[in-house]
Amino acid sequence: MEKREQLYEGKAKKVFATDDPELLIVSYKDDATAFNGLKKGTISGKGVINNRMSNLLMQMLEKSGIPTHFVEELSERETLVKKVSIVPLEVIIRNIAAGSFSKRYGRDEGEVFSAPTIEFSYKNDELGDPLLNEYHAIALGLATKEEIETIKRYAFETNRLLKAFWAECGITLVDFKLEFGKISDGSIVLADEISPDTCRLWDSKTGEKLDKDRFRRDLGGTEEAYAEVMKRLTEHI
Ligand code: TMP
Repeated sequence: MEKREQLYEGKAKKVFATDDPELLIVSYKDDATAFNGLKKGTISGKGVINNRMSNLLMQMLEKSGIPTHFVEELSERETLVKKVSIVPLEVIIRNIAAGSFSKRYGRDEGEVFSAPTIEFSYKNDELGDPLLNEYHAIALGLATKEEIETIKRYAFETNRLLKAFWAECGITLVDFKLEFGKISDGSIVLADEISPDTCRLWDSKTGEKLDKDRFRRDLGGTEEAYAEVMKRLTEHI
């Protein structure tokens, strides 16, 4: 596998072409942003942790029937993935009120829902990733009705699997964001990453935040929290 030119640099990852038109290499950075890039910083060692963690979780999901973009971990920070055309939706599943949900609806963080919720936002930095519903997504041509049905099914199943896994690690899965893409045959796969950047993870006993909220809210101990989550994951996977 030959690494070729850089195609794209995002907030947390770089993407490179390879000599295979169907495969890409993603490289995880330590850069962290929040509030649509307004807050910038570095979480030292984050790229290494997120690469490994996302790959382990995607392999676990794949075994349970969720197709993902994962192909092979190449190094500490680099992974070979299937080339996808990203469905421009951020798919957010919530089990417990927190973050923008708590703010929007005036509910305390920590309120446990009777059933998980799903929401979509339009992945568009210029517009600030506005919230939208399925009909909006179809009207905007972001995905078809069938693709949205598939995405919902995969997202709720991912929640069921991840919630159970994190519970074994003594971690409560509060909410998370997924992104999906289409591979060359048109089928939908889970893409992007699953990490403390994209999930809210609370210690089940103490409620301590073990995710990117430590950076977003200037709580300190961000590196230690990421390392703790990684440690528990490797002990239980
Ligand atoms: P929110 O409460 O800010 O809407 O975030 C919900 C979940 O989505 C939370 O686990 C963090 C994650 N998330 C991302 O991964 N990327 C983003 O740009 C945002 C806003 C949230």
